[in-house]
Amino acid sequence: MQADKKITLLIKNIGQLITMDGPIPRVGDQMKDIGLIEDGAIAISIDEIVSVGKSDEVEGQSTLAENCTVIDAEGAVVTPGLIDPHTHPVFAKTREKEFEMRTEGRSYMEIAEAGGGIRSSVRHLREASYADLKNATAERLDRLLSYGVTTIEAKSGYGLSTESELQMLEVIAELNETHNIDLVPTFLGAHEVPDEYRDDRKGYEDLVINEMIPAVAKKKLAEYADIFCEKGVFEIESSRRIMSAAKSAGMKLRFHADELACIGAAELAADMGAATADHLVYISDDGIKAMARAGTVAVLLPGTTFSLGGSQYAPARKMIDEGVVLSLSTDCNPGSSFTESLPFIITLAAVQLKLTAAESISAVTVNAAWSIDRSEMIGQLMPGMQADFVLWDMADYRELPYHYGVNLVAKVVKKGKIVVNAQNNGNGRD
Ligand code: NIG
Ligand code: FE
Repeated sequence: MQADKKITLLIKNIGQLITMDGPIPRVGDQMKDIGLIEDGAIAISIDEIVSVGKSDEVEGQSTLAENCTVIDAEGAVVTPGLIDPHTHPVFAKTREKEFEMRTEGRSYMEIAEAGGGIRSSVRHLREASYADLKNATAERLDRLLSYGVTTIEAKSGYGLSTESELQMLEVIAELNETHNIDLVPTFLGAHEVPDEYRDDRKGYEDLVINEMIPAVAKKKLAEYADIFCEKGVFEIESSRRIMSAAKSAGMKLRFHADELACIGAAELAADMGAATADHLVYISDDGIKAMARAGTVAVLLPGTTFSLGGSQYAPARKMIDEGVVLSLSTDCNPGSSFTESLPFIITLAAVQLKLTAAESISAVTVNAAWSIDRSEMIGQLMPGMQADFVLWDMADYRELPYHYGVNLVAKVVKKGKIVVNAQNNGNGRD
């Protein structure tokens, strides 16, 4: 307890305070431990957590500032702010027509090969102004925040020219400054081969390596680089070449890996020391072992399988049994998974991946923070950490996957400020 710090926000009478105290990251059985305190309280000074514990202890230790806000949680649940480690929130137009085409029987890859998919988002984005793009993205961030998400990883990848990719990353950088959500930027120039390079794929790879990566690195616009390492998109050797260049330019690596077919992308990600390999629906047993050995985080995106109407989900239990660090994300994007609801992903994780509520909470707090290199600041509710947390309209955290399709967020606190208050949002709850 830092006795000198005056408390500006105190939440007391928390029925289940989920601190996530314990190992970072969580693997195997550790994922079941969420550091739960019953009848808890949390005391904040400005933007920092000062104390966390039983209500009477925290209240007894706290010196309240004159203007301190005191909230009685009335027995509700508090968790750390949710962290979404894989999003594509910067895009100009939605693609509901493609969603309906899939309902009518076309596949994601057929639509992409016919010129739709990512390439149609690229055409739209190149026509949009910076301001339109920023405003459209900000609305998605508002929605993510309303579902309890306080930090996201955000990718470029719908520009696919040096100018447009830089523009996307500039939107992400500006929103990181101006929006309540924190954004961690990822360069995804290798998301697809754009229209003008369809007959010269090698030419596009050279452009990514020789022009885009140096330009992004010079402006320090991306912490990570990502690639759609997939059959018919960027296959293993191209991916190795592009990601080696990104790594040499100082970027950490993430992969879209083995989403639609097994091509050994997980093994490549592990071999290259990537922070994460994501999707992994078709990962091989060797891929699982390689990721466990290398400590590469598996970011699973069951919303994508759901939205594409697939029946095969990533083998999450096998990965947990083998000691892979597991996280979960929305994959929020206009094509394969258009949702800002990380809680709905937690429901899918329960039903399809067979993750318990505690395991999913570990996945979207400590393990997600670990995957974006932010473990010192976020993912746990501990003294000294950033005051990002969610007060939920539920008495038991297991309601989170169970009561689906509705928003159970009562309040979101970001850096010590109440930024979402469901009472004021007109969603009919208090
Ligand atoms: O994660 N698979 C590649 N990228 C996205 C989809 C992007 C899109 O269809 O616009 C994904 O699923
Ligand atoms: Fe994605």
